[in-house]
Amino acid sequence: MEALTPRQIVAELDKYIIGQDKAKKAVAIALRNRWRRQQVTDDLREEIMPNNIIMIGPTGVGKTEIARRLANLAEAPFIKVEASKFTEVGYVGRDVESMVRDLVDLSVNMVKEDRMMGVEKEAENQAEERLLDMLLPPLQKKKKGKRAVNKEAEQEAEARWKRSREKLRTRLDDGKLDKRMVELELPSDRFPMVEILSPIGMEEMGINIQEIFGGMMPPRTKRRRVSIPEARKILAQEEAQKLIDMEKVIASAIERVENAGIVFLDEIDKIAGERVRGEVDVSREGVQRDILPIVEGSTVMTKHGMVRSDHILFIAAGAFHVSKPSDLIPELQGRFPIRVELESLTAEDFVRILTEPKNALLKQYTAMLKTEGVGITFTKGAIREIAQVADKVNTRMENIGARRLHTVMTILLEEIMFSVPDMEKKRVRITRKYVQEAMKDIVEDEDISKYIL
Ligand SMILES: Nc1ncnc2c1ncn2[C@@H]1O[C@H](COP(=O)(O)OP(=O)(O)OP(=O)(O)O)[C@@H](O)[C@H]1O
Ligand SMILES: [Mg+2]
Repeated sequence: MEALTPRQIVAELDKYIIGQDKAKKAVAIALRNRWRRQQVTDDLREEIMPNNIIMIGPTGVGKTEIARRLANLAEAPFIKVEASKFTEVGYVGRDVESMVRDLVDLSVNMVKEDRMMGVEKEAENQAEERLLDMLLPPLQKKKKGKRAVNKEAEQEAEARWKRSREKLRTRLDDGKLDKRMVELELPSDRFPMVEILSPIGMEEMGINIQEIFGGMMPPRTKRRRVSIPEARKILAQEEAQKLIDMEKVIASAIERVENAGIVFLDEIDKIAGERVRGEVDVSREGVQRDILPIVEGSTVMTKHGMVRSDHILFIAAGAFHVSKPSDLIPELQGRFPIRVELESLTAEDFVRILTEPKNALLKQYTAMLKTEGVGITFTKGAIREIAQVADKVNTRMENIGARRLHTVMTILLEEIMFSVPDMEKKRVRITRKYVQEAMKDIVEDEDISKYIL
């Protein structure tokens, strides 16, 4: 994990998220604290608990975005879970431990990919040798017993074979053989015949019956003809697999989850029951009680082994329109000591969101139109108008935050996106007037806007 300072973390988040300074600061401190914890002596380290955070704020103001970008920065295993999914009718057993298991799976993949990248060169070299073996099979060694007919002739043949192989290698590397096909033995889909239904409970322990039986049966393979470049990729992949030590990968993946994992618990407000009698809050409170041990720290059985959840960072988020954080059971509240409120976004924020982030909408549209050879520009007035339209619609109807910008932009540019491949003009300038014209009907007619935006 790279040790960014809180200030640097905020600066990185600023590249994608406008405003919300309090939330950024809180997550930056939480992240830095995990690094600090790693530096502390062993006995104390175990005592330091993560700064779990609750982000409170209306929809579409950047809660998920902050958590996602944070995880990217930390290169930490990160998953997003909707807390409300555990309350769904028909959800048997509320398998809340699945979030830890999913996190581990993800972490294993992350580490594996990482390791595979490390052995990429070596794997590629070995793949090349295997390809050459296919194209020019190695010489049969003469049986020991048989007297060599002619030692010199044999050496001669061997030297010739070596020369051919090197020649072939050059042609291969120059891409001269790319059109040729070779046959490869490929593993076919693991279990095509029957889906084995595992008894209830097995799945929960993370034991996968298919994997157990799958290992017992001979691997099913299938011969396939593939082009040389494709074969090179497949073989390199296979070689990389052989070169990495899966046991070490798993150990390191689990270590990462335990010390750096981040779980984003979205819609936490949906499981905070208001204290109304006779309501569904039995089930909501039930979910909270199920989640509690995981947040508090427990050992979860996964198919890769036991994983402790004590130091996983939990970031919860919710709009808390109806319920309040204080409606959560006290034990759970205690486990989320940090609360930050995210602000509603203003028209000014929208102007910045449209233009400033690395992935800003206007940058996206500009890049897309460029692929058609068209340059699009937006005047300052146009951008302000778009922001104001979005803001107006948000206040008149449901406030969906920055998501509104997506819908406004889609409508605004619909005609252009449709007809641009047939256009003669290679420059498009979006002015304030253009925006007003395009959005006129929608902004004026509340009924239409209800359906369209
Ligand atoms: N402050 C912001 N700066 C830049 N972009 C933002 C901001 N807030 C929201 N967005 C944009 O809006 C989209 C939705 O935001 P996000 O997913 O973070 O909402 P949310 O707060 O998690 O809402 P919900 O409560 O509905 O889950 C994001 O993909 C992002 O592009
Ligand atoms: Mg969200």
